[in-house]
Amino acid sequence: MSILNIGLIGFSGRLGAHILDHLIDAQNQDKLHLVILHRENSDLSKLPPHVEIETRLIQLDERGVEVTKKAVEDLDVVISSVWYAGIPSQVYLIDALASSSRIKLFIPSDYGLSWTNEELDNSALEFGHIKVKSKVIEKKANELNVPIVNVRVGCFDQTFFPGEVIGLDAQTNKIRFYRETALKYQVRITTLDYLGYALTQLSLDPSRIAGKTITLYDIALTGQEIVDVLTVIHGSPTEVAKFTEEEYQRDLKDFSGSIGAGVKKRWVENDWRVGEKVEIEGYTHVSFEDITRKWLSSVST
Ligand SMILES: NC(=O)c1ccc[n+]([C@@H]2O[C@H](COP(=O)([O-])OP(=O)(O)OC[C@H]3O[C@@H](n4cnc5c(N)ncnc54)[C@H](OP(=O)(O)O)[C@@H]3O)[C@@H](O)[C@H]2O)c1
Repeated sequence: MSILNIGLIGFSGRLGAHILDHLIDAQNQDKLHLVILHRENSDLSKLPPHVEIETRLIQLDERGVEVTKKAVEDLDVVISSVWYAGIPSQVYLIDALASSSRIKLFIPSDYGLSWTNEELDNSALEFGHIKVKSKVIEKKANELNVPIVNVRVGCFDQTFFPGEVIGLDAQTNKIRFYRETALKYQVRITTLDYLGYALTQLSLDPSRIAGKTITLYDIALTGQEIVDVLTVIHGSPTEVAKFTEEEYQRDLKDFSGSIGAGVKKRWVENDWRVGEKVEIEGYTHVSFEDITRKWLSSVST
């Protein structure tokens, strides 16, 4: 059986760099053929030197559909990890993919929470085009019969530790919980390395997830378990305080605050909404204690 051609858009980004690493590993093992899809002004010098990677230009606007069609015509799977203005521009990619007889799976740039319609009406989320992901991109792919998967995640490790999202200050051994139930319910963490690995593995078996909404996370632990780990690491009791309702309401007024509020709400209600958890084989899992220790040593140097 021939190997799949897999395209990646957004390779230079925060997520894209991790997906790229794992796609390159799989290409080195002859499991897939990787094609980097890039914009005119994408910085290709960020691709690793000494690795042979095919690159193709795409143009995600009204004038670029033919260029993009040509670039994607023999691809089996396309993974997108674009952000900001790149999110709405994916409609042009869907137009191009719709004319392909070969495409088996498009993974649009989602990698967020399963938001409710009411939450999506929060104007603070407009900054990141969050509503566009489901109301425009998913809708258009379904209308044009382009097979997609919605990939939902927990809180990224990169945002968990600086405390932006969940109220954790790992350096000073403090945590603030929005409601007591956070102590007994689990929060989900998706490490970027795991996400890159999981998307690569899933791309090799597109029919497993086409048409679904899935959730990818590699760590889930209760608030009490977080306190216990911090207490062990610091050798002293963790200070636990309350994240107030006023602070929660204030957070809903800006973009990153709203993302954090979305995680907190799901955590304390133990309801992460739509998205079947998919098990990914072969990943070398790292414990929460180990990633916490690693993060603490990275910020102390
Ligand atoms: N759940 C969470 O906590 C969380 C956190 C962060 C991000 N996310 C989601 O993850 C996805 C990727 O985020 P990220 O942080 O990795 O993004 P990023 O690093 O800011 O950007 C990713 C890539 O998007 C491409 N891009 C930027 N502007 C573009 C435009 N106008 N048109 C086309 N492409 C454009 C660029 O690729 P090129 O230069 O190569 O073209 C860039 O490298 C987004 O959907 C974001 O909402 C989720």
